[in-house]
Amino acid sequence: MTNPTCFYLHLLMLSIVLHVLFVNQNIATAISNNDEVSLIRNSCDGTHYLGTCLSVLEADSRSKSATDLKSLTRISMDIVCEEAIGLKSLFTAAEKNITDPNLIKNVKKCIEVSDYCNYRIKTFGIPDFEEGNYRFANISAKDCVDCATDCSFTGIKLFNKEIVTLHDFSADVQDFINMLQN
Ligand SMILES: *[C@@H]1O[C@H](CO)[C@@H](O)[C@H](O)[C@H]1NC(C)=O
Ligand SMILES: *[C@@H]1O[C@H](CO)[C@@H](O)[C@H](O)[C@H]1NC(C)=O
Repeated sequence: MTNPTCFYLHLLMLSIVLHVLFVNQNIATAISNNDEVSLIRNSCDGTHYLGTCLSVLEADSRSKSATDLKSLTRISMDIVCEEAIGLKSLFTAAEKNITDPNLIKNVKKCIEVSDYCNYRIKTFGIPDFEEGNYRFANISAKDCVDCATDCSFTGIKLFNKEIVTLHDFSADVQDFINMLQN
C-alpha cells in the first residue's frame, strides 16, 4: 500500500510544476501580445476619435508590424489613402445609377474630394512625413479631414459611415503627427 502522505506530496509537487508552467506560458503570451496591443492602444489614447482609431488599426494587419508611433503613423497614412480610394469607388459606382441632378452634383463633389484627399496624402503628405516635415504632413492630413467634411456638407446620405470614418481617422492621423512633433 502506498504511503498516503507521500502520494499527496507527489500530487502537490505535480500541481506546483503544472501551475508554474501554465502561469509562465500565460505571461509569455501576454507579453508578446501586449507589445503590439499597447502600441495601438497607447497611440489611439491620444486621439480625438479613440473608437475609430482602435477599430481601423486593429482591423489592419499591417499595424501589427508597427514598432513605434512613427511606423504606425506611416501605415495610417496609407490607410487614409485607401479609405479615400474606397470612398471614391463607392461613389463612382453609385453615380451610374443616379438620375436626380442634385444628387449627381453631390456625388460628383464627393468623388472629387476623395480623389483630392488621396492625391494630397500620396503626393505630399507621405513624402513630407518621411522627410520628417511633420508640419506639412499635418496639413495634408487636415486636407483629408476637410475633404470628408465637404462631402458630408453636401447633405448626401450615401456612404455616411465611410465618410465619417475618413474624417475621424484623418483627424486621428493629425493627432499622431502632433504627438510625434512634441
Ligand atoms: C442600380 O439600380 C438597379 C435598379 O434599381 C439595381 O438593381 C442595381 O443594383 C443598382 N446598381 C448599383 C450599382 O447601385
Ligand atoms: C496640425 O494642424 C492643427 C490644425 O489642424 C494644429 O492645431 C496643429 O498644431 C498642427 N500640428 C503640427 C505639428 O503642425
